[in-house]
Parts: sequence; structure tokens; C-alpha cells
Amino acid sequence: MDWKITLSEPDITKAELKAVTDVVKSKWFTMGAVTIEFEKKFSEMLGVKHAFAVTNCTAALHIANLALNIQAGDEVIVPALTFVATANAVKYTGAEVVFADSVSGTDLTVSAESIEKAITKNTKAITIVHYAGFPCEMEKIMKVAKKHNLFVIEDCAHSSFGKCRIKNKIVSLGTIGDIGCFSFFSNKNMTTGEGGMIVTDNDMLAEKIKLLRSHGMTTLTYDRHKGHQSGYDVVALGYNYRIDEIRSALGIVQLSKVIKNNAKRRELYKYYYICLKNNKNVIFPFADFEIELSTPHIMPIIVKERCNEIKSALKNSGVQTSKHYDLIPNFTLYRKSRFASKVKYIDNIITLPLYPQLSKKNIKFICGIINDN
Ligand SMILES: Cc1ncc(COP(=O)(O)O)c(C=O)c1O
Repeated sequence: MDWKITLSEPDITKAELKAVTDVVKSKWFTMGAVTIEFEKKFSEMLGVKHAFAVTNCTAALHIANLALNIQAGDEVIVPALTFVATANAVKYTGAEVVFADSVSGTDLTVSAESIEKAITKNTKAITIVHYAGFPCEMEKIMKVAKKHNLFVIEDCAHSSFGKCRIKNKIVSLGTIGDIGCFSFFSNKNMTTGEGGMIVTDNDMLAEKIKLLRSHGMTTLTYDRHKGHQSGYDVVALGYNYRIDEIRSALGIVQLSKVIKNNAKRRELYKYYYICLKNNKNVIFPFADFEIELSTPHIMPIIVKERCNEIKSALKNSGVQTSKHYDLIPNFTLYRKSRFASKVKYIDNIITLPLYPQLSKKNIKFICGIINDN
């Protein structure tokens, strides 16, 4: 379909084109100097000791679970409201996924209270998601994790370079739990097409992650090419979750503008709020959050009534929308019994367009349609 206003759009300029062309000209495609530079820059910007670039965030989440020794017989608590990859990454290990609910109708992130209620003697870890780019209640969640001796994986697919307050200190999302996982999928706040990053401050976990990313091998092709190493041993059952130099080159350029683009996303999120705040049919999530710390990735609203009519009106005007998300426990693969969220109207989420290049004129147009329906 030829949309007048698409749901998302990557910010790609000549700089990305040049970065990719330079890699192609270099004739070195697999993980090498460009990836090392990308990882170094990412870890420095985030303020974390170790960062490993990987094929995508799903791979990052998979090896995060493996590095924490999650296995059959264990349970991992995951938000019901997230993309299915957050749960699938647990299931790959043979462990059981247990779902937790959102905080409220306006804070759709997973609640510490719901997490604590879901804990059993088999619970080993919690994966939280900074949904839509808004931080979870990390102070409370870390308290629950500490009390019950649980690992915490932060799924930061929506929240590259977001922050939150813990004990009045501002900290980077992805560095609070044991491991942070990032996505650079094409609609994300920074993109490499497909791609991801896994970060940790823990040296032992970093060693495991490094092995799991590349077949459990003790050296890389690049190490051998550089003459640093001549052979390798295989010491773990690893995967091929390596990124390539083309994506890393894109990542370096995208890193240079992610902070500016996150600011633009915040500005547009606030503008949506101005345009919709008087509409009694619309619940506007995260309106009372400390927006300056967040990284609005998607623009979800909840409508009380006429959800289908509003979606059709937007579609008929050429505005692409989506839904983030259908609750995972109600998908066939995960369904045991119907998951009843305490969030009223949670089935009526409509995701509206949001990306740095979106004009305020177009936001006004989108909100006009919603307000007229
Ligand atoms: C919350 C969340 N987790 C994980 C993923 C998976 O990311 P990727 O597509 O990089 O594997 C996504 C992707 O959209 C996501 O939104």
C-alpha cells in the first residue's frame, strides 16, 4: 500500500552510504576493525564495560539467557506486553516463560508487584522491557530481584540510550540489570537494518557471551587474519550470531545521531500529547513520565471506544498504524488460559507513526482524524 504517512522511517543519509561503500571497498566483510570500533563507541556512550555486536536483539536475548545458565526446569518472568522475541528467547533454552502484567493504563511497562507475584521456587531470572522507550520501575524491580536472588535481563530494543533514576542517580538503561540487549532493526531508534548489541559490566558473563556469539570458538577469523592467533579451540556450544562490517559501519554513523534523534522523538511525543490531551476517548500512556530521560520509540495510544473505526479512518486517509502488542500469553504458542490484564482497554492499543523526520503538520493531521472520530 502507498501510505501517505508511514509508521516508521529510518534516518539514512549520504554518510551511511559512504560508510557502507568504504567497507565494500575494503573487502573485509566479517567481524573486524569496524565492528571493534562500533562496540567501543557504543560501550563508551552507554557507560558499560563490555559490548558485543550481534545479528539482532533476539540473538542477544538468547545468549543472555544462556550466559545466565537458564535451562529446562527454570522459569523466567517476562512482560505479557512485549514483542514475542522477549519470550521466545527464554523458550529456546527449554525454560518456562511466566508472564507479568503492566503497571497501569498509563504506565504500560511491567510492574514490580506483578513480577513478585509470579515468582515460584523455579524462578531464575526476570526479563524486563523498557516498553516504547519508557523506563520500567527499575528501583522496585531490582529490589524484588535482590530479595529473591534473581538475574535481571533488560530488553532495551526500544530504549537505546534511555535513562532512569535510581536512588536519585541517573543511570543508563541496559546497565542496571546483569545484561542489556539492544535492537537495531529497521524501525528502531538507531538502525543497521538487522542488528543488535549485548552489554554487561560482568567480566565472567562477557567471556561467556563472546564464546556463545561465535560457535564457542576461542579465536575469531579476524584474529587469525591479523596473525594474532593461529588456531582455535571450541569450548562451548555456541552460535553464529556475529554481526558483519557493513552493519557495524551503519551502526557507527547511526550512533553519531541517535542522541539528537531521541530528542526529536521526545519533541514529537510531546506534540502528540498536546494534540490529543483533550480527547476523552484517548488514554495517552506515559504522559506523567520524566520524558527527558526516555527515548520514545513507538507512539501507542489506547482508545476506549471505536478502535476499529478509528483505525479504518486513519487507513482510509493513508496513515499507517500498528498495534504494539497483542499480549503474548494469548498467542496459540503460549496460551494456557486467557491472560487477564488489569489494564482496561489493553486490546485497544493503536500505534501511531513516530520517527524523527515526521512533521508536526502530519501529527496534527493524524490527531485531527482521531479527534473527529
Ligand atoms: C521489545 C523487543 N524485544 C526484542 C525484539 C527483537 O529484536 P530484533 O528484531 O533485533 O531481533 C524486538 C523487535 O522489535 C522488540 O521490540
